[in-house]
Amino acid sequence: MRVPKHVLILGGTTEARRLAAELAADPALRITSSLAGRVAEPRLPTGEVRIGGFGGPDGLAAWLREQRVDALIDATHPFAGTISRNAATAAAEVHVPLLALRRPSWVPVAGDSWHPVGSLDEAAAALPALGRRIFLTTGRQGLAAFAHLTDLFFLARSVDAPEAPMPPRTEVLLDRGPFTLEGERAVLREHRIDVLVTKDSGGAATAPKLAAARELGLPVVIVRRPPAPAGVPEVPDVAGAVAWVVRQA
Ligand SMILES: NC(=O)c1ccc[n+]([C@@H]2O[C@H](COP(=O)([O-])OP(=O)(O)OC[C@H]3O[C@@H](n4cnc5c(N)ncnc54)[C@H](OP(=O)(O)O)[C@@H]3O)[C@@H](O)[C@H]2O)c1
Repeated sequence: MRVPKHVLILGGTTEARRLAAELAADPALRITSSLAGRVAEPRLPTGEVRIGGFGGPDGLAAWLREQRVDALIDATHPFAGTISRNAATAAAEVHVPLLALRRPSWVPVAGDSWHPVGSLDEAAAALPALGRRIFLTTGRQGLAAFAHLTDLFFLARSVDAPEAPMPPRTEVLLDRGPFTLEGERAVLREHRIDVLVTKDSGGAATAPKLAAARELGLPVVIVRRPPAPAGVPEVPDVAGAVAWVVRQA
């Protein structure tokens, strides 16, 4: 009997789950998805799932070897820079083919008022000049960068509750995408938001906030992505990743 090819998907994104579901339908493949374990109740992908860090690039390399992984797909969030670098290092070490599935960056359109910054600290520095009531959608980690902004109101949206330190005038909104334009419009109006802060996550699930901000003429502070590791082939969508796996097999 033919041994199924083992594909490891580094996940934690919608695309990673969709990819696992598509690939798991092929009996010639064994699919394992890996999650960091950050979210208390993650949406679990189809197929085998392992949860928790590997212990750096060496730990990941050992896992690839021990579990006889034939192909590795880094389908993590564009801001998960450490695991992407670890994947590049480990795959090179054990000679496992690696592909990055990374959603394209968002692109501004007419009517947008975007303020690109390089980090959460730079986002915080830009805020006082832009407004007083801030919609912070950068995730539950990193609120510390805004903690010194004691005069500003923050509506901080995240899947799980953020931990201190955070700005004193913070209201937490626990929610998980996908979001709708109507819903985002309502959030901005209800909380009288005058600035949106977001990472350049890309993808459709969280894009409606950008359209809602455009409609209301609000400035958007957008945090640029960390650099992706050099030399790793990249596809923008699940179909591209499926085609790559088929070529590997
Ligand atoms: N950063 C974001 O804005 C964001 C947004 C949505 C979803 N996510 C998802 O949340 C997870 C963590 O993101 P992060 O920004 O904290 O990552 P990160 O800073 O790049 O990674 C930090 C450490 O977490 C572990 N890790 C990260 N992703 C992992 C995975 N898929 N499987 C096993 N271990 C993983 C690794 O630990 P070891 O070194 O011990 O292996 C890594 O060194 C990722 O899977 C990402 O796709 C992140």
